[in-house]
Amino acid sequence: MTFSSATAIAHPNIAFIKYWGNRDDEIRLPQNGSISMNLGDLTTRTMVTFDSSLPRDMLDLNGVRQGGAALERVSRHLNLIRGIRGVSAPAHVFSESNFPAGTGLASSASAFAALTVAAVRAAGIEMTEKDLTRLARRGSGSAARSIPSGFVEWYRGDTDRESYAASIAPAEHWGLVDCIAIIDSSEKKTGSTEGHRIAHTSPLQAARVEDADRRLKTCRDAIEDRDFDALAQIIELDSNLLHTIAMTSYPALYYWQPATIELMKEVVAWRQSGLPVAFTIDAGSNVHVICENLAADKVKEKLIKQSGVQNVILSKPGRGTILI
Ligand code: PMV
Repeated sequence: MTFSSATAIAHPNIAFIKYWGNRDDEIRLPQNGSISMNLGDLTTRTMVTFDSSLPRDMLDLNGVRQGGAALERVSRHLNLIRGIRGVSAPAHVFSESNFPAGTGLASSASAFAALTVAAVRAAGIEMTEKDLTRLARRGSGSAARSIPSGFVEWYRGDTDRESYAASIAPAEHWGLVDCIAIIDSSEKKTGSTEGHRIAHTSPLQAARVEDADRRLKTCRDAIEDRDFDALAQIIELDSNLLHTIAMTSYPALYYWQPATIELMKEVVAWRQSGLPVAFTIDAGSNVHVICENLAADKVKEKLIKQSGVQNVILSKPGRGTILI
């Protein structure tokens, strides 16, 4: 019997320039590069144990045994890792997060980042950070960005080898805070995998992709210069572009709730009155309100009073995925 175990901790990330649509769905080669910030206060901890006495792979998420599509997706990812080293043993995966899954809080990013790093170590494989990001990308595209530290860019690349993520600034570089306004904490109906698959059906996707390098440069420069106004303008545009594609795909995807759009308008008004805040929204209705840390308490207070906001979760920039 073989038995070997490893545990990793990963953080989800919030995309400033978003990934939406693949050139190759099978190996998740994105149509455009993306940039994100790891969310250090949100954590996923995953232990992977390869154990030849197990009848099959087993997955426990926050204490609940999983089957069906969730287990299949994890098994498919484990098969990639087993294939590298000729490991045949099934695995037991225990994963726990301190934030709700399926809420647009990018649980798949921290889930597949932690799974990749823990499973690679448990299988006895030595891998560079760059190759770990390529492997994590195969489980969930945004997971590639949760492996390196701080502010991270995932390069589009033309091939599997070239499509990887790397840190563009450490977590300490800029004291931003993501104040996440939870508007709906239920599981979303259409996940991002399906959204990527149908993005090309929007007649506007080509224009969004064509302009991506310009937005990436603007965002990269804003992070480097810690220029909040430039960051605010580019992330709100990029978020609106993603949702425009979602709404004009077939079938159309509407992620926003009435409270989402009310809050988007409020955030812009707060900024016009001098508060350093900006919004960005992933594939869900929750609003990520990005601000500078001096403004975080005030922003939280304002968000809690906002109608339709159930809860507010705060996070500072975070490090990359680590083994413990
Ligand atoms: O990694 P996925 O397949 O869950 O896609 C992520 C999609 C967005 O969160 C909406 C954007 C992004 O770049 O994180």
